Amino acid sequence: MCGIVGFTGHRQAAPVLLDGLAKLEYRGYDSAGIAVRDGEKDVEIVKAKGRLRVLAEKTNDGTAMHGTCGIGHTRWATHGEPSELNAHPHCSDDRNVVGVHNGIIENYQELREKLQHKGYNFYSDTDTEVAIKLIDYYYKKYEHTPVDAINHAMVRIRGSYALAIMFRDYPEEIYAARKDSPMIIGVADGESFVASDVPAILKYTRNVYYIGNMELCRLQKGNVTFYNLDGDEIEKDLVEIQWDAEAAEKAGFEHFMMKEIHEQPKAIRDTINSVVRDGKIDLSGVGITEEEIQKLQQIYIVACGSAYHVGVAAQYVIEELAQIPVRVELASEFRYRRMLFAPNSLVIIVSQSGETADSLAALREAKAHGVKTLAIVNVVGSTIAREADHVFYTLAGPEIAVATTKAYSTQLIASYILSIEFARVRGMIDEDRAAELIAELQTIPDKIEKLLEDKERIQWFAAKQMNAQNMFFIGRGIDYAVSLEGSLKMKEISYIHSEAYAAGELKHGTISLIEPGTLVIGVLTQQDLYEKTVSNMVECKSRGAYLMALTTYGNYSIEDCAEFVIYIPKTDPLFAASLAVIPLQLMGYYVSVAKGLDVDKPRNLAKSVTVE
Ligand code: F6R
Repeated sequence: MCGIVGFTGHRQAAPVLLDGLAKLEYRGYDSAGIAVRDGEKDVEIVKAKGRLRVLAEKTNDGTAMHGTCGIGHTRWATHGEPSELNAHPHCSDDRNVVGVHNGIIENYQELREKLQHKGYNFYSDTDTEVAIKLIDYYYKKYEHTPVDAINHAMVRIRGSYALAIMFRDYPEEIYAARKDSPMIIGVADGESFVASDVPAILKYTRNVYYIGNMELCRLQKGNVTFYNLDGDEIEKDLVEIQWDAEAAEKAGFEHFMMKEIHEQPKAIRDTINSVVRDGKIDLSGVGITEEEIQKLQQIYIVACGSAYHVGVAAQYVIEELAQIPVRVELASEFRYRRMLFAPNSLVIIVSQSGETADSLAALREAKAHGVKTLAIVNVVGSTIAREADHVFYTLAGPEIAVATTKAYSTQLIASYILSIEFARVRGMIDEDRAAELIAELQTIPDKIEKLLEDKERIQWFAAKQMNAQNMFFIGRGIDYAVSLEGSLKMKEISYIHSEAYAAGELKHGTISLIEPGTLVIGVLTQQDLYEKTVSNMVECKSRGAYLMALTTYGNYSIEDCAEFVIYIPKTDPLFAASLAVIPLQLMGYYVSVAKGLDVDKPRNLAKSVTVE
């Protein structure tokens, strides 16, 4: 939540900052601002409420601001309503210190009062203004050295932050500090960058440093120095990012979401190829050993939102294949529960961003109990990836649309691969069955490509649903897991109320919501549960529901009850979620487009939820 960017170099900073913020707008988009310095001159700050384009207009695409050093911010409001006053950058009264911040300062009220007693005034409701003024206070108290001032503030602040700060006495320099909020540092020839995420700087450099928790750094033109909390210099390794710059562009698609839907076959192929060699799974890169797998007695899959839905599907697959008991937990609940971990447990954290606050806290909770952790993560070098004992990287590339599609699909694939390997190592399936399942997995990208060829039919049907008030997605087993994701895709981008239900659960209350014309989408890919779900759909129809079915080629009897049917290619039922989700992603997308909504940036949401 919130995106920050900073640049110091030889070109004009404002256009670079605006360009970077445009790539980070998925992190928050209720207001934005930039601060630029022209050598020794006073800092110039421009802010705007609303989308980034308002700020771009206000600054004439940045050309109205002069200077080669600056910081920028796009906001998802936490403390203080979205307004120009609350927008970042924030500054001390004399503009000695100017900064942008992503995260939450938990003790900001206490710090604010302390600073008020010292004579500081506050113009905004934000926790960020408090952080900046605290740094200003220490800067003035301790011999005007930015590193000492920031270190003192870091010791006092409780909460999470990625901060980029400029000091009047240090023109051309930016200082950055982080704790539990994402931040990367980029360097190129004579230029240095700081950003919340890689896409913001990918156009300029692929060479990045990952700044650790409770560390800070000083950015000069093309040169970065890192410090620990004691103010000692520390060494960092430069990492080359593999993503290409085009990956963060729309490439001719109207929206990132549609582009990312189409990238799913490649993302899945890449993810499979990263761990499958000569038809065999090799988890040496993930780091989990056969000995650890053999000992497993219990798995917990912990995640939020769509990543949690991956866990719901994975639960069925792991239990079926590897026969290890699995519990799927919402990270926001898991972290506050008394967890009675079984011996030899494994906690699997699923996260695209690798920065989701609740998932990170759940990971730390598991580690504090001495439980081994494995993270399925997309963003290389993210906090969850760095802190987990083992990491399975999904190779989805940058996902920009707020509603996840390709990351979800690669997470599913990662969970299938773990299931097959766990089953093989524990002797639940033999080598031939493992090879058969891997071969089937490798057919999924082609099958998705085939499904995407038929999208116009879905578009036509989706457009007819744009005035719907309510929708229901029902299914059993893995089809229930798909229903959860289909329903989330629909509601988050089309703003239509939708519910996902285990099909057998409807008559325990929910069926009273069915009215004449209510759309009920039945997901029926699991052959052994097909008849059961058909019966539940018929029960809805006899109460007036309008039925859509999503099933496998061959189940043509469904046309006797459903008004609209989408068929998916046959696959092993354990992997059916990977195919069934595609039409549902398209449904959500097309309803949103038909309603004229902002598909990539739905209201009130942000891509990476780094606050509780
Ligand atoms: C929905 C969506 C979210 C995320 C959730 C977890 O389309 O994208 O529900 O799945 O916020 O985010 P990550 O995977 O980054 O931990």
